[in-house]
Amino acid sequence: MPCFEVNPVLFINTLTLRDVLFCHQPERFACFIHAWKNERGIVREHPSAKRLLGSRCHDTTLGPAAGGMRMWPYETEADALRDAVRLARGMTYKNAAAELPYGGGKCVVIGDPKQDKTEGVLRALGRFINRLGGLYLTGVDVGTTVQDMEVMRMESPYVVTIPEAMGGPGDSAPATAFGVFQGIRACLREVYGSPLPQGRTVAVQGAGAVGKELVRYLVETGATVTIADIDQEKTSVLAAHYAVNVVEPEEIHRLDVDVYSPCAMGAVLNDQTLPELRCKIVCGSANNQLAEERHGDLLAQRAILYAPDYIVSAGGVISGVDSLNPGGFNRQRAMEKVSHIYKTMANVMAISKEQNIPTYRAASVLAEQRIAMIRQVKSLAV
Ligand code: NAI
Repeated sequence: MPCFEVNPVLFINTLTLRDVLFCHQPERFACFIHAWKNERGIVREHPSAKRLLGSRCHDTTLGPAAGGMRMWPYETEADALRDAVRLARGMTYKNAAAELPYGGGKCVVIGDPKQDKTEGVLRALGRFINRLGGLYLTGVDVGTTVQDMEVMRMESPYVVTIPEAMGGPGDSAPATAFGVFQGIRACLREVYGSPLPQGRTVAVQGAGAVGKELVRYLVETGATVTIADIDQEKTSVLAAHYAVNVVEPEEIHRLDVDVYSPCAMGAVLNDQTLPELRCKIVCGSANNQLAEERHGDLLAQRAILYAPDYIVSAGGVISGVDSLNPGGFNRQRAMEKVSHIYKTMANVMAISKEQNIPTYRAASVLAEQRIAMIRQVKSLAV
């Protein structure tokens, strides 16, 4: 069984060889826990960093693992590891489908982002990332900010989503929103024959960092937009800037609209919400929108076009890793690459039709085909 291909020597220095061999096999979970128990010893260089857990690489066929760092008050280590595995796998698929030269990984930290993010903890995390020697590249996720990355960057160049003033991409939400907008355009073209949002109706769930940028793109291109958020201040601020309708959070998915765009939390496509949908398209940034895979099948049966979340929400990671190019971050180049999400979504729909499978499965096919091709290329003696 081959081990990681990137900086293996450095990596073997931090873990035992056995751990490295087992590390990227999801089924060897027990060995993996063992590996990260060792790794926690390294993270505990700072006394306040007692509850840091470690990162998880899922697949590095395409290159070093890239994926954000999440801080969340998980109740148990098992919960945190389960989340790390799930999220790292998601990043493998997201990066593969986005044609990035990166594998998938995620770092989870057990902690309360409001209380536990001291400079010491963040720098300890930076040192931990650095010990992986480039095998894993990190950025912002739930519970972490660009400012946190700035602190971690003091310890490691493998922290990539740093502020623009430091040569990085800054906040990822605008790029994510631009990617979702491209996904919506691709879906509109499929369903209505034209990608133009003008005259179309869109319901955006969540007026947060991504939602508010997406609303801007939609309103500026002539769509009629309705928004909802559990935080009334956010909807008020957005409604003061743009001509949008506001509804209660429990109403938004039920609206009779062309596009329902979930940009808040996951599992919004479930047994309760699915019969209530009246849209033709679901396309938004929220991670893990399908409560279970079978909900993707049910959407297809109801002829609702579902844009797989990891396909259309890849803008943030695409822009994040742009800063690794020679010469550093270039916004124009990054956004140009994000705009390819239109084409990627078109490819997903083409596979779905050719193979007569729902779009969520077509997205997996697209990602797996690319990983298989690169694995084959790397196995060739050249
Ligand atoms: P955010 O935290 O800035 O915004 C989320 C918004 O959803 C908040 O305003 C919150 O009050 C609202 N919300 C929560 N529950 C709600 C509900 N039941 N109904 C209506 N609104 C509700 O988060 P952000 O950055 O905008 O991300 C949105 C989603 O997109 C998340 O699922 C995130 O994981 C995902 N995502 C974000 C990326 C980024 O670059 N920020 C990249 C890829 C995915």
